[in-house]
Amino acid sequence: MIPSRKRNNLEASRAALGKPRPGIQRRVSLASDTAAWPERQVEIDTLLSGPVHLNHLLLPLMLKHNRSSLLVNVRSGGAFIPQVFAPVYSACKAALHSYTVTLRHALRATRVRVVELIPPAVQTALAGPGTTPGVPLDEFCDEVFSALQRGESDTVGFGPTNTSEFKQVLNATDLLFKASSLRFPIATYSSEQS
Ligand SMILES: NC(=O)c1ccc[n+]([C@@H]2O[C@H](COP(=O)([O-])OP(=O)(O)OC[C@H]3O[C@@H](n4cnc5c(N)ncnc54)[C@H](OP(=O)(O)O)[C@@H]3O)[C@@H](O)[C@H]2O)c1
Repeated sequence: MIPSRKRNNLEASRAALGKPRPGIQRRVSLASDTAAWPERQVEIDTLLSGPVHLNHLLLPLMLKHNRSSLLVNVRSGGAFIPQVFAPVYSACKAALHSYTVTLRHALRATRVRVVELIPPAVQTALAGPGTTPGVPLDEFCDEVFSALQRGESDTVGFGPTNTSEFKQVLNATDLLFKASSLRFPIATYSSEQS
């Protein structure tokens, strides 16, 4: 879904960093992070600018077609409780969460549903070579894709991000957001917009 020009730019950024894949979760403590700024910037661009830009590109098309559609932004357990070993990653996920909540609010009169996927640690390449903590990828995908298709909730978690305690926190912040947003009438999207 990334336009080829953009992907070429991303590939060029990766090449410029001298690594085949800079990764999207830099595991480094703030106090010992000596990386040059471009490496840090790639993490922020990938985790925050990327999804926000993609939403910006897709929304006019989704609104124009005016069909029931689903936009999924991928958050993380680290958006709630910052992971001290991945400070910029955690900050980007918290920012993406904030943006996504406002996006859902702005789209509430349209047929575009906005869902946040909240993976716990999942066994993918995210944490870097040789590091595969977390739940098996197939189990995670089977459950969350079914949940996305059922469309029962604005958030989809798995295991530790799908417990009743976790959902209580989500519900509490959701109620606070709804109360706060009522105080600030803003322009929202309509289905006719393109
Ligand atoms: N795995 C977990 O434990 C976990 C937990 C919470 C949230 N998440 C989130 O889940 C999402 C998917 O991650 P994953 O676990 O599936 O990791 P993954 O297996 O490493 O996949 C990461 C994806 O990001 C792309 N990517 C990496 N660096 C990039 C760059 N500089 N520019 C553009 N694209 C880049 C990769 O593209 P290529 O395939 O082309 O390299 C790949 O498609 C991420 O948003 C992650 O933060 C994962």
